[in-house]
Amino acid sequence: MNRYSNPTLQVVVLAAGQGKRMRSVKPKVLHDVLGKSILEHVLLSVEALAPQGICLVLGHGSSQVKSEIEKTHACSWVIQKEQLGTGHAVQHAEQACSQAEDVLIVCGDTPLLQTDTLAFLLEQHRKTASDISFLSAKLSEPTGYGRVQRNQQGAVQCIIEERDANDAEKLIQEVSTGIFCVKQKVLFKLLAQVDNQNNQEEYYLPDIVPLALNENMSVHAFIMQNSDDMQGVNNRSQLRHVTEIMQQRVIQGWEAEGVSVEQATTVRIDVSVKLGADCTVRAGTQILGNSHIGDNCELGPYAVIKNSWLDDDVKVEAFSHLETAHVGASSQVGPYARLRPQAELDEGVKIGNFVEVKKSVIGKNSKVNHLSYIGDTTMGESCNVGAGTITCNYDGANKHQTVIDDRVFVGSDTKLIAPVHVEEGATIGAGSVITKTVRRNGLTLSVRPEQRHVKDWKRPQKS
Ligand code: UD1
Ligand code: CA
Repeated sequence: MNRYSNPTLQVVVLAAGQGKRMRSVKPKVLHDVLGKSILEHVLLSVEALAPQGICLVLGHGSSQVKSEIEKTHACSWVIQKEQLGTGHAVQHAEQACSQAEDVLIVCGDTPLLQTDTLAFLLEQHRKTASDISFLSAKLSEPTGYGRVQRNQQGAVQCIIEERDANDAEKLIQEVSTGIFCVKQKVLFKLLAQVDNQNNQEEYYLPDIVPLALNENMSVHAFIMQNSDDMQGVNNRSQLRHVTEIMQQRVIQGWEAEGVSVEQATTVRIDVSVKLGADCTVRAGTQILGNSHIGDNCELGPYAVIKNSWLDDDVKVEAFSHLETAHVGASSQVGPYARLRPQAELDEGVKIGNFVEVKKSVIGKNSKVNHLSYIGDTTMGESCNVGAGTITCNYDGANKHQTVIDDRVFVGSDTKLIAPVHVEEGATIGAGSVITKTVRRNGLTLSVRPEQRHVKDWKRPQKS
């Protein structure tokens, strides 16, 4: 459900810069923040405004960015071949903006941007009938940002970039966030007048402010209460910093929904994860990707759960690793268990320590409690699989299936050489090597080597 609708608004996202300071072969805006790229976070925040369109200005690594983004987002894009400044970048989006009344300009490197913050700017822009509106913030550490110069009456005069500012101007603590909302009719006229007579010899978007004032247009800066939203990522430290803030937001959001998180600074919960009420997430646990956790689950400490679906009342104990698995209600996993892709556990299943399950269905109330490998297997209900059991599924070339029917008891240290079928109610004696169908009910075991007793044997003594 969308709270906003802005059919006369076009959004322009600036993302052509290289991001040199990341020291990465990957374009800056594709770096990950809790399961989504920096740029995706920005796109999600502007998409929720329901604008008429979103135009990306791309440059460095444009084909890589395009192919990542077009999978999940409907945007148009233009290529800015040479990065001659933010004003020059916006000029490339002129055609995309031709049908719009207002243009919202945001940077592609500010993943903490929230829709409500942008909606606040739009509301103020319309309320004050401004030609140009932008968000500013008061920072105790304004270094690096453009400073907002106001006159005696408090009216905005211009924005002075760090590298063009004198010592007095550098003391100004109100900075531009780089987030602008401008009437389409005036934006491109003003941009055509912007020159590059500045320290960086760039065409600055903020220079439309004094040009507009010269023509008696109205310009307003609106001060953001919480400056987190504007924080940009230019280097790895800032990437870590925004990730920490995003993580706090995510965790606080789940706390409000009835989730407890222990030692929250050690926990990672991705933005796409869903958690039910009364869940407890313990120290060091990572819940990643599109994982869905039901009500009243206990996870961790130190569990990793990736792209997995857990029903209600599941316990995942310490140091367990789950990937693309499904765990049925009231099941228990771990400690030290591994569920690999397509592990499908029904209700009330127990997977214990040092057990690996891959591409297998484990039926209701079945137990595999210790040191086993279950792969390419379909197991029925109420089975008990003893310690050290292995489904030998791979012959070096192909994978083969093991089928275990309901109520089977597999003795410890059994090898099931697939393909093989164990019929309902069968019991397999410990240490067996099973190569043929095990008949229903009854006991099946492979012939064991004879047991001998050496009567006069003495234990070696330490010399
Ligand atoms: C910019 C603003 C500054 C503001 C700050 C807020 C200008 C000149 N400065 O500075 O007032 O305080 O943001 O974070 O606008 N980009 C292009 N093409 C270009 C140049 C930049 O697409 O030719 C993109 C970059 O990829 C980036 C964004 O525009 O996403 C901002 O550019 P950046 O160089 O990071 O500007 P700042 O120095 O941060
Ligand atoms: Ca920046």
